[in-house]
Amino acid sequence: MRPADSARNGNFRQKGRMSTPRAKPKYYLTTPLYYTNGLPHIGHTYSTIVADVIRRYKRMRGFDVFMTTGADEHGVNVERSAQKAGKSPQEFSTEISVQWKRLWDELGIPGDEFIRTTDEKHHRTVQWLFKRCRDNGYIVKGHYTGQYCVHDNAYVVDAGPGDPCPDCGRPTETVTEENYFFKLSEFQQKLLDFYAANPEFIQPESRRNEVLSFVNGGLKNLSITRTTIRWGIPVPGEAPHVFYVWFDALIGYLSAVGGPNFDQRGLWPADLHLVGKEIIRFHAVYWPAFLMAADLPLPRQIWAHGWLLFDSEKMSKSRGNVVRPRPIVGALGIEPLRFYLLREIVFGQDGSFSYDALVTRYNSDLANGLGNLASRTLTMIERYFGGEIPKPAPEQGGETDAPGTAEFANEALTKIMHLYDRLNFSQALESIWEIVGMIDKYISVEKPWALAEKPEDRARLASVLYTSAEGLRIVTALAHPVLPQATQKIWSQLGQTEPLSGVQLDLLSWGQLRPGTKTGKPEGIFPRVDKSETIARIEAMEQEQNKTPMPPTAAAASTPAGPGVAAAPAVATAAKIGIEDFAKVEMRVGQVKTAERVAGADRLLQLQVDIGDEVRQIVAGLALVYKPEDLVGRKVVVVTNLQPRKLRGVESNGMIVAASLPDGAPVLAGFLEDVPVGAKLK
Ligand code: MSP
Repeated sequence: MRPADSARNGNFRQKGRMSTPRAKPKYYLTTPLYYTNGLPHIGHTYSTIVADVIRRYKRMRGFDVFMTTGADEHGVNVERSAQKAGKSPQEFSTEISVQWKRLWDELGIPGDEFIRTTDEKHHRTVQWLFKRCRDNGYIVKGHYTGQYCVHDNAYVVDAGPGDPCPDCGRPTETVTEENYFFKLSEFQQKLLDFYAANPEFIQPESRRNEVLSFVNGGLKNLSITRTTIRWGIPVPGEAPHVFYVWFDALIGYLSAVGGPNFDQRGLWPADLHLVGKEIIRFHAVYWPAFLMAADLPLPRQIWAHGWLLFDSEKMSKSRGNVVRPRPIVGALGIEPLRFYLLREIVFGQDGSFSYDALVTRYNSDLANGLGNLASRTLTMIERYFGGEIPKPAPEQGGETDAPGTAEFANEALTKIMHLYDRLNFSQALESIWEIVGMIDKYISVEKPWALAEKPEDRARLASVLYTSAEGLRIVTALAHPVLPQATQKIWSQLGQTEPLSGVQLDLLSWGQLRPGTKTGKPEGIFPRVDKSETIARIEAMEQEQNKTPMPPTAAAASTPAGPGVAAAPAVATAAKIGIEDFAKVEMRVGQVKTAERVAGADRLLQLQVDIGDEVRQIVAGLALVYKPEDLVGRKVVVVTNLQPRKLRGVESNGMIVAASLPDGAPVLAGFLEDVPVGAKLK
């Protein structure tokens, strides 16, 4: 039974669904509302890209889709970041919010609504929902003393003074407040009943089990207001109380689609909240409880994806191991990034991000795969049939396009749609690319270029090229949610005039490509790239991006050749710079005093390096090639005027210069003559 159906029979009411008649069924999905104490990295970009893929896919399945993303602007983190930047929280958070929105626009993943928790309409919705919960008897006043994790905006249950937060490891703070409490304890059984009636509410299964055991363990009342901070939505008539950020942000999903008047838009309840696994509890426990208390319809599904890891750790600003999207997009475009993230990472599980794998995927699946198939098919149609889709002659069919083709294609369509429905993107793409491979092989076996030599093989040639083009058309439509622009180009080159986004996958079947259709000029879609040159370009752009003024919280981008190691090719292939730019980089001769491995990180070494007037701690990605004991005493080149950053929680204050071999292995730069420690390089 689906959540909304069960709601009708359960102990809370289902209200206001679809009061506006719609030609198509609606589908409302959301990304998390991202905190505005920092700028997006590709972990956040991953969530928004996935939401955009679902949005496009559902449209192709006939849904009237609406997607919300936005900014979670309140709370102590933003307040503190603003303070550090010497700005008011409002001013600071607006600046960052604008950057988030701009990036999503730039990447073509803006959603339909960008909700800010500072929006007036959101304030009204939060206050309204609070009143409903209170009127229903689910809110009481009390005192609370507990250990609070400022970073996660959450009290840590069972922690003592000074204990670290179990989620992020930072020390908790003891806080005593007069609070309004939400009677979460009253929802334990209701939630358990709800989960039982709606087994697909929490996905994937592992997260569902995690939530079930949390709720089974008993629920304590939840403090939902704060008097210790000012930067929040005021509780009406109860100054100085402001709402706890999670009682604020979650409600953003509802504010975005009408708030108190959600009935009029007909979009609520949400069909899907897409979240990272670390915030599943807020979405799968607190949020449904708040909605039950307010007697409002519950979302249909919460899907928690895994984390993007870099150097085996969650990519996050505080760890200093983030990768930003712009340099990747600048070097390769957004579509290869979309493809890589969805193809490489099993949705729901953690996945390691690597530049190497990104470029390898690009070359193998996009340049040599789909791009090459499109260009060879269209080029041959142009060359041998004057740019018109030829008429197939089935009776001429050879082994590989024999009668099974249509059935095979139609079955593949059903299977791939099913995989998309389950959000199993990696397998959906794998299956689509199996078809790409099959058509490619078919062309190689049938050798149309040889058939074209003999007039008596003309009908056969027509069949082979029709089959290839029709296969390409189907593949193109199926890959559209992930590669919207590239597939639209191929679609148009195949002479299809209807925009691909408007095509309904349910109506797609083999044989719809009309012979005689004029094809467009074949154009390269994904040119092959040189791996090390591309990675070097990304690095160069990262360096460039770090130079341009960014809002104060922008963390330095990572160095993909290896943290703490400056890769020489990046400099060699970067755009030309003036001597004054070069002079900004301070490099000195250093000598390694001590070296040890960083626990749990295969590539990292923690070094103490004497640079003449001080000993610096540097974390460098050298461990796969250099043993710690081989480095002690060795003279190295150190970039000394970089912003310090943290890797695996260990501060790194400088960078060791190394060449980067094509496989990414570092080779330390050094001197043939003896040089004094501390000497400057010019
Ligand atoms: N503001 C809260 C969410 C409130 S929703 C009502 C929040 N914000 S956040 O800025 O920290 O964003 C968290 C989300 O960003 C994660 O849930 C996930 O979707 C995404 N990611 C952040 N880092 C990530 C990775 N390293 N990998 C994958 N996704 C990550 O939590």
